[in-house]
Amino acid sequence: MTILGIESSCDETACAVVRDGTEVLSSVVYTQIKLHKPWGGVVPEIASRAHVEKISGVIAEAVEEAVRGGGIAGKGDIDAVAVTYAPGLAPALLVGLNAAKGFALAADIPVFGINHIEAHLHTPFLETDMRPEDFMPALGLVVSGGHTSWIDMPEYGKYEIIGQTLDDAAGEAFDKAAKLLGLGYPGGPVVDREANAYGGGDYIAFPKGRPKPGTAALAGLEADLCTSFSGLKTSLLNHVKNAYGDASVPAGDIPRICASYRKAIVEVIAERTATALKRRRCRALIVGGGVSLNGALRSALATVAAEAGVKLLTAQPKYCGDNAAMIAGLAYWRRNVTGDAALSIDVHPSLDAGTSPV
Ligand code: KG4
Ligand code: ZN
Repeated sequence: MTILGIESSCDETACAVVRDGTEVLSSVVYTQIKLHKPWGGVVPEIASRAHVEKISGVIAEAVEEAVRGGGIAGKGDIDAVAVTYAPGLAPALLVGLNAAKGFALAADIPVFGINHIEAHLHTPFLETDMRPEDFMPALGLVVSGGHTSWIDMPEYGKYEIIGQTLDDAAGEAFDKAAKLLGLGYPGGPVVDREANAYGGGDYIAFPKGRPKPGTAALAGLEADLCTSFSGLKTSLLNHVKNAYGDASVPAGDIPRICASYRKAIVEVIAERTATALKRRRCRALIVGGGVSLNGALRSALATVAAEAGVKLLTAQPKYCGDNAAMIAGLAYWRRNVTGDAALSIDVHPSLDAGTSPV
C-alpha cells in the first residue's frame, strides 16, 4: 500500500510517499526556521501563513520525487492520504488537513488522521526491514520541542502515556536557554554544540527537574516518571544574573553553562527512562523527536537500555525532527483505527497520544 503523508502541525511543511509503512519513496521537508528566528520561537500566525504558501509545492515535489526515483509511475499509484490531525497549532494543522482532504477527494482515495506524537515513535522503523510488532511490548520516549513523554506500547498501535513533563518540553528547555544566552533559535543544536566544546569537570549544579509527589499537575501519573523543566530555566536565569549582573555572558563561559544545563536535562530523562523500564515489561526502548539528535542523550539512553537488557531503537537523523514519512509510515499500521471517513476528520490541537476523538 502506497500512502502520501502530510505534516503541518508546527513549523515544518512536509510531504512524503511511503510504501508499506517503511519504504520511503520520497520525503520533502520545508522548514520555516528562518521565518521564526527573529522571534526566538514559533509564531502560530506566521507558521500557518507559510504552510498555506508552501503546501501545494511541497506535495507536488514529494510526488515528483517518488516518480523520479521509480517508486511510483504517477499520482494514480497512491492508495491513501495520511495527515497529522493532532496535536499541534490549530491553524497550522488545518492547512495540512484541508490539503489532504482535497488531494483525497480529487483522487477518490481515503484519508487517515494520524497523531503526531505516535508518529514520532514510528521513525526508527523507516528505511529498515524491522517490523514494529516484533519489538512489542515497548517503552516509547518522545523528546521534542513540544513534548517529553514516556509511552507504554503493549502492542503496535496502542499507546498509554505513563509519564511526561508537567510544563516545558525538553526541546523547549533547550530553546529557552539559547534565547536567554543569546545563542539563537532553535536552541537545541547550538546548546548541544557549545556543550560539546566544554572539557568537562566543574559543572554548575542546575536542578534536575524532578516534580514532587502529590503535585496536582501530575494528574494521576507517578512523580518519578515525570519531569518539570520550568525551574531549570529559572535557575539558569538566576545563575546568569548572579554571575554577570546586566552584562552579557562572556563567550568563554558559554560551553560550561551549556554543558551543565544539558547534563541536568539528560540525567533526569535517563533516570525516568530507567525507572519506566523497571516498571514495565519491555523488549525495546523506542525513541523519537528532535531532541533525540542530542548525542549526550543518545549515549545516556544507550546505557540505560543496555542495563535494562532492552533494544534501543532510534531514528536516522533526518527522521528525528518533524517529517511526513513518519505520518505516512504509521498510517499503514493505524489505518483501521481512525477510519477513512475523509471529510469527517477534524483537527485536535491538544489530543494526547493513545486517545481518540472518535
Ligand atoms: O521533533 P521536533 O523537530 O519538533 C517538534 O515536534 O517539536 O523537535 C524540535 C526540537 C527543538 O526544540 C530543537 O531545539 C530540538 O528539537 N533539538 C535538539 C537538538 N536538535 C534539535 N535538542 C537538543 N539537542 C539537539 N542536538
Ligand atoms: Zn514533532
